[in-house]
Amino acid sequence: MQNLKLKYGDKAVVTGGSSGIGKAFALELAKQGIAPILVARNKENLRAIAKEISAQYQIEAQTFSVDLSDEKATLDFLDEIDKQEIGMLIHSAGMENNGSFTKISEAKELQMIKLNVTSTYLLTNHFAKKMSAAQKGGILLVSSLVGLMPSPYFSNYAATKAYVHQLALSLYPELKLNNVDISVLAPGLTDTNMVANNGVDWSKIPMTSMQPSEAAQIALNNIGKKATIIPGFMNKMMVMMAKRVFSMKSFSLLNGFLLRKAISNNKL
Ligand SMILES: NC(=O)c1ccc[n+]([C@@H]2O[C@H](COP(=O)([O-])OP(=O)(O)OC[C@H]3O[C@@H](n4cnc5c(N)ncnc54)[C@H](OP(=O)(O)O)[C@@H]3O)[C@@H](O)[C@H]2O)c1
Repeated sequence: MQNLKLKYGDKAVVTGGSSGIGKAFALELAKQGIAPILVARNKENLRAIAKEISAQYQIEAQTFSVDLSDEKATLDFLDEIDKQEIGMLIHSAGMENNGSFTKISEAKELQMIKLNVTSTYLLTNHFAKKMSAAQKGGILLVSSLVGLMPSPYFSNYAATKAYVHQLALSLYPELKLNNVDISVLAPGLTDTNMVANNGVDWSKIPMTSMQPSEAAQIALNNIGKKATIIPGFMNKMMVMMAKRVFSMKSFSLLNGFLLRKAISNNKL
């Protein structure tokens, strides 16, 4: 494990830190003596995680209830924490949406763009500037395997995650010149609330699921070393197949065939 405290300092913003992969990041950072600043909407969940962190690691986690799909609320939050010295940003908050593109709720799709894309831009822009001025820092964005491959019935979600991936990859050399690391985690199926409640029968897809703690540990081990972090052998194979074995069009057709069988009929 890298010594992240030595590399980036003792405070990290962790969005989505109340659940799933974000919570796993928060616990792992606290274990290393880094105080997480947890950001999500649900206050009770945030308080519960902060309490767990304090009891387990004697680290005080700050909590901020912010709707990151709201641009003004996001900017207000960044203003509020501006005076603090923060060496890491882990942006794990995100939402997913699936179903036939022509039937899916437009309001939910637009909210997803605001959360997955706009908040990623705002947070990355803010911390890239601050960290570049300090000549020190680490940013970890959370994309998804679907951001690296065509994913029918998850079309808009996949497109938002492709944005996250491209932003991090493109910034990688720019920020390195300022001694700032940026990496992007592209998890495959991970055992969290997001996939437990999304109306997809994942047993019909040839994918194995990973625990969030494993994905978080792999990401923290590789931040700043790799630009794209794909956790797990099967996930790496999947990307290899999509990019090297099939043409993008054939992979899209194959993936569409598989996903159509897994998604609830009422969403098709
Ligand atoms: N699970 C997977 O299989 C998988 C695979 C690939 C990529 N990912 C990505 O991994 C990231 C974490 O997802 P997860 O699987 O850990 O899901 P999760 O357990 O549902 O966690 C999502 C987190 O985001 C927060 N969040 C959601 N909407 C928000 C909003 N509008 N403003 C602020 N916070 C918000 C949630 O808290 P509140 O609801 O309280 O706001 C929660 O803390 C996401 O970016 C997701 O796209 C997940």
